[in-house]
Amino acid sequence: MTAPSVAKPVTHGGIHRPEEHVIVLFGATGDLAKRKLLPGLFHLAAAGLLPRRYRIIGTSPASFAISTEEFRDHARQAAEDFCITKPAHEADCWAEFAPRLSFAPADPGDYGALTDEVARAEKEIGGTVRRLFHLAVPPAAFTPVVGMLGASGLATDRSRVIIEKPFGTDLKSAIELDQAVHAVFGESQIYRIDHFLGKESVDNILAFRFANGLFEPVWNRSHIAYVQIDVPETLSIEGRADFYDKTGAYRDMIVTHLFQVLGFVAMEPPTALSAQQLRGEKTKVFDAMRPIDVRHVVRGQYEGYRREPGVASDSQTETMIALRAEVDNWRWKGVPFYLRSGKSLGAGRQVITLGFHEPPMRMFKTHRKDIPDGRRNEIIIDFADPGSITTKFLAKEPGAEMTLGSEQMLFTYANSFAAANALEGYERLILDAMLGDQALFTSSDGILRLWEISEPLLTNPPAVEAYAPGSWGPDSVNALIEPHHWHLPQSGLAPGGVGGR
Ligand code: BG6
Repeated sequence: MTAPSVAKPVTHGGIHRPEEHVIVLFGATGDLAKRKLLPGLFHLAAAGLLPRRYRIIGTSPASFAISTEEFRDHARQAAEDFCITKPAHEADCWAEFAPRLSFAPADPGDYGALTDEVARAEKEIGGTVRRLFHLAVPPAAFTPVVGMLGASGLATDRSRVIIEKPFGTDLKSAIELDQAVHAVFGESQIYRIDHFLGKESVDNILAFRFANGLFEPVWNRSHIAYVQIDVPETLSIEGRADFYDKTGAYRDMIVTHLFQVLGFVAMEPPTALSAQQLRGEKTKVFDAMRPIDVRHVVRGQYEGYRREPGVASDSQTETMIALRAEVDNWRWKGVPFYLRSGKSLGAGRQVITLGFHEPPMRMFKTHRKDIPDGRRNEIIIDFADPGSITTKFLAKEPGAEMTLGSEQMLFTYANSFAAANALEGYERLILDAMLGDQALFTSSDGILRLWEISEPLLTNPPAVEAYAPGSWGPDSVNALIEPHHWHLPQSGLAPGGVGGR
């Protein structure tokens, strides 16, 4: 099926609202639905951004089935725990939302209850209704679920499908998955989600770079010495052993989220912020990336990981990874992109750092000893919600001598814009999928290219090195980026202090 799904947003009171929808949530009792999707849908409902008429059907294999009443209770608790809008405080909103939730089990060979429930929901809504299938299921279930959507007739021309990450586990499996999905849906109906691309501060990279004459002219190898994309987490695997031990930090975070962020940092200016142009420019960056060189990769595993319930006692899965990536094009040739992410690390942060070449410093006889070489000019984009941007520079300290100190200019979302309109990554992307806008979703060719450059690492991974929980990974993580230094951990964060080690 290759029917195009044209975006037709409906405006209600000046706000773009999607057309009438039935949303079918696969994996409705799982972790992602609990933490992000059910709270996100409630927040969209409370913000008036869901369609005027909609139904949400939770589904899971019969062995995990719950009743509609239990599903509503589950969703309420999820929203209470993880949504900024609390059902207890917004009783009217909840009272409107809850009756639109229902549950129906479905297995690949037994989907009658789900097709009946979808038909019932569409009849209730009336008129022409769109279907949005969100596959919040383990990667191994993508192909069977998509097959079921085809076999059951649930996938129609007016349907769209959101597929979670990781899209495949290597190049071969990603190609197979792509073929399986394309056997049922046309490309314009497929929304491969990467929730980092829905984060306000990640989208702001495009505004920061391309809406200002100030930064883009220096955004290249002539001025930038290194780029870091650093996403340490304090969380451990939080009971997700079954998923995590098969996945590891590289597939869970780098090949999905961090490479996508790299795409935004490194892309050429697109001619428009539409799906075709934005995805095209990102794919060109991925095309220019060199295959990952395993000599520039450190894989770590936190001490105690192998004792986590569900983890193999000899597991070689990395719980943190740091690597150097290279974008071999005119803009970035020779600029290392250092990427790091992992579990049970020293802090939870989401930070991009661009370090600038140093100017000649001969004329300045003295500067404070605590400013390390190469750390004086940096742009630091903190993209954890609500996000901030800091530019670090040297300034003259007051006094009779020309002594330099490190200073910074700081923009914070929290102090600059009202947070009321902010949407979480998932919320923004589910809304975009309902509106038919694929700009912030990943394209098939882009993902396949990322798996292609990953092949050397996936086939020949360096041994995992142990690190203490709460640390910053094994020592070789620092050696990896010499002569540079990781921006994190920082010291002296207070305004006027000296950043970096
Ligand atoms: C998910 C990963 O995609 O992203 C998790 O599977 C990770 O392991 C999470 O913790 C981080 O996202 P956020 O937006 O919650 O920081």
